[in-house]
Amino acid sequence: MRRPAIAANWKMHKSAAEAAAFARDFLPRVKDAGEKDVILAPPFTALARLGEELAGSRVALAAQNVHAAEKGAFTGEVAVGMLAELGCRWVILGHSERRTLFGETSAQVSEKAAAVLAAGLRPIVCLGESLEEREANRTLDVIARQVAESLADVPDASATEVVLAYEPIWAIGTGRTATPAIAQEAHAALRERLAERFGAAAAEIRIQYGGSVKPDNVDDLMAQPDIDGALVGGASLEPESFARIVDFEPR
Ligand code: PGA
Repeated sequence: MRRPAIAANWKMHKSAAEAAAFARDFLPRVKDAGEKDVILAPPFTALARLGEELAGSRVALAAQNVHAAEKGAFTGEVAVGMLAELGCRWVILGHSERRTLFGETSAQVSEKAAAVLAAGLRPIVCLGESLEEREANRTLDVIARQVAESLADVPDASATEVVLAYEPIWAIGTGRTATPAIAQEAHAALRERLAERFGAAAAEIRIQYGGSVKPDNVDDLMAQPDIDGALVGGASLEPESFARIVDFEPR
């Protein structure tokens, strides 16, 4: 059985003080995080403070990006060792906003994933097609290429440490969720590509769905056989809403 992984991607929302206030409200609401990975990804500036609030809880800390190098002349960037020092255990990589707004490529995502794994942290590697690609019936080709290129540097021995996040761009922040059937089709195709690349380990790799996940659609999405968790933006900003998503009941 794949252990569900539910992650909050706060994007550029919440100061350190706001992140701490969220944690104090959210932690008592989480019922059975022991059976799941529950992950909060605040902006870099809130990591230290949120890490203090989460210490001793079952909720893990994540960053939203990292540089692949250990250190160096990379103004404005942050290395994985710096994240580890703050208690980060996960790093979101290759979010579509990073790909489209900041020009991040799958090759860079792949290098970053290898660096994250080498440091003993876990990457959440995001991918997904645009509306134009979906309408041109290119979804499965696009995500096959993205998964191959974004995981190219991942050592076979680390494959099960990776979490993939399938996030169709047309569903992100739009309120337009992929139907459970559309998401399942993409997840199943991704798992086939993972099997070609990593063999039997593919059955253990978790694939999250992201794109307008909400308390009222998470149960249906999580009932799909290849949907192993969620990457949640807007609906993760309120403690009550995200706690309800974490406590999903597949139906
Ligand atoms: P959304 O964002 O839940 O607000 O659609 C998801 C994401 O971008 O990870």
